[in-house]
Amino acid sequence: MPLIEARGVSHRYGDRTVLAALDVRLDERRVGVVGANGSGKSTFARLLNGLVLPSEGSVTVDGHDTRREGRAVRRRVGFCFTDPDAQIVMPTVAEDVAFGLRRRGLSRTEVRERVARALEEHGLADHADHPAHLLSGGQKQMLALASVLVTEPDVLVMDEPTTLLDLRNAERISGVVARLPQQVVLVTHHLHLLDGFDRVLVFDEGHLVFDDLPATAVRHYRKLMA
Ligand SMILES: Nc1ncnc2c1ncn2[C@@H]1O[C@H](COP(=O)(O)OP(=O)(O)OP(=O)(O)O)[C@@H](O)[C@H]1O
Ligand SMILES: [Mg+2]
Repeated sequence: MPLIEARGVSHRYGDRTVLAALDVRLDERRVGVVGANGSGKSTFARLLNGLVLPSEGSVTVDGHDTRREGRAVRRRVGFCFTDPDAQIVMPTVAEDVAFGLRRRGLSRTEVRERVARALEEHGLADHADHPAHLLSGGQKQMLALASVLVTEPDVLVMDEPTTLLDLRNAERISGVVARLPQQVVLVTHHLHLLDGFDRVLVFDEGHLVFDDLPATAVRHYRKLMA
């Protein structure tokens, strides 16, 4: 698995520190992130692919620094937002999946094949030419996931991908994620999604306060919230 390292990381928005003194190395296949609203989870997730740069310290992915080598990092680290509308950029479903493959030097045939495979794998094959904005919430989240995975990232960071979904679609996303060969860092308030994960980080008020196997970490988090 890739190695993600945060060394001496803190992050401020304006003069407010929202993450402090963070030192962590992640090389497990399945890493969960939990914590109260505003505890810094999304900030942490965004640091991992350089969407947010640390105010202090450094974040590297397999040795590539998010500050100095943002492009190299983003090639390796795919990101899925809570709201798929935030990342669906093209008018039709197939065009949106193809968009991630631009400037990769692939032939048109390769692009077509990769897009077709991604749509098939995510249950969107019948919707290839449909307007993306007319998909249901669950289908949009599958599209967002397909558009990220078609670029074959080594790491997939997901920030509450199931929050807007009904139970069936949430289970569907969770099933897809469980089968991914890639390293996954999943931020979620749906704690049962973390069953079977290798490691869970608990954030509280900008600090990484607990880091353990899911059962132990979730117990700690529940106690923290009680
Ligand atoms: N772009 C921003 N500008 C200013 N402050 C921000 C920005 N993004 C986040 N914050 C603040 O940073 C703190 C941490 O936010 P973050 O989004 O990382 O929390 P979170 O743990 O993901 O919360 P939630 O569970 O609600 O998604 C919050 O107090 C938030 O208000
Ligand atoms: Mg968040």
